[in-house]
Amino acid sequence: MVKVKSRDILQLVTAYPLSKNLEQLQIELGLPSIRNLSEIENVFGCSTKVKNHLLNQLDHLFAYPDGAARLLTSQLASFLEVEPEQLFIGNGSDEIIRLLIRAFLNPQDEAVMAEITFPRYKTNVTIEGGKPVLVPLKDGVHDLDKMLTSITDQTKMIFVCNPNNPTGTIVEKNALMDFIAEVPEDILIVLDEAYYEYATNDAYLQSIPLLKKFSNLVILRTFSKVYGLAGLRVGYGIMDPFVAAELNKVKEVFNVNQLAQTAAIVALEDQDFREECVKKNEEGRIYLERELSSIGYTFFHTQANFMMVHTDKSGDWISSELLKAGILVRSGNALGYPNSIRVTISSMEDNQYFIQTLKSLRRNE
Ligand SMILES: Cc1ncc(COP(=O)(O)O)c(C=O)c1O
Repeated sequence: MVKVKSRDILQLVTAYPLSKNLEQLQIELGLPSIRNLSEIENVFGCSTKVKNHLLNQLDHLFAYPDGAARLLTSQLASFLEVEPEQLFIGNGSDEIIRLLIRAFLNPQDEAVMAEITFPRYKTNVTIEGGKPVLVPLKDGVHDLDKMLTSITDQTKMIFVCNPNNPTGTIVEKNALMDFIAEVPEDILIVLDEAYYEYATNDAYLQSIPLLKKFSNLVILRTFSKVYGLAGLRVGYGIMDPFVAAELNKVKEVFNVNQLAQTAAIVALEDQDFREECVKKNEEGRIYLERELSSIGYTFFHTQANFMMVHTDKSGDWISSELLKAGILVRSGNALGYPNSIRVTISSMEDNQYFIQTLKSLRRNE
């Protein structure tokens, strides 16, 4: 019988539900193969230049990484045209979310966020003893007006996920700029732009110039998505040097491993790869939007590499039927949309197979 007790707050927290191992699932279901359209990773992998470069790094594995990620920081600073002091490199942007909350939220402080958004904001706020204040989305989009009116004297942070996971929607740039200007200066605004590179719509805000005016703005981006390096864990934040310095106080010394730092530097140099992926994603998005509309499905307008598709059945049912045909998607049920599925925009072959299978499900109804 275990006698030790964890912190009381952990009664409110559940472990993140990890997806099943793909090979295991394939064996269990007796399927020849599974097309994985459920994870929001880069289905086109990563740059070949990154792969080749990493092979040269194997002789250096004995050494601790550079705890300040100096080379990556300086390359990224010139690429983004910001000062190195404005950057913080993290073990994925996940880590930066956790560290921001750890550094800026006292117990009982409130953090405003969308009700349906990236779940790690809520989990980390809860773990630190803060209070998540959840604001429902409006047609799948952040309700910025409601978020503003949810601010109280206890509010210390606001999260805006743009494009939003899991809806893929963006907030329009003028509305977002007005919102940022309205938020009191002593509240940290965390603008999570994990899918930044995929957002090609003119209405999408280019947020970096705003850092000059708003010292309470933090922009988060990552190498996990368009650069295809999710397995290495490297993300970054752009912020006021004061905020970055506070994060340095609470981070692990060697938070980003050396292979990740090196891979990110090379990935940044290969902008052709990024452009190619964005182009293919755009083609896939246009194809899916056209085909889904033609079979009478609606969806949220995405600016990311995934799409929330609404159906007339339950998301659980549709996803289990798709799985029988060897396509893994995410049921919207656990994501707050019981009659929807979230599908990753994939290679054209997989997009087409997904559409054909949906069509045949409709025919067999
Ligand atoms: C909106 C959003 N933010 C942050 C992350 C974390 O990304 P990473 O830790 O891989 O940089 C994800 C991952 O799916 C995400 O969807």
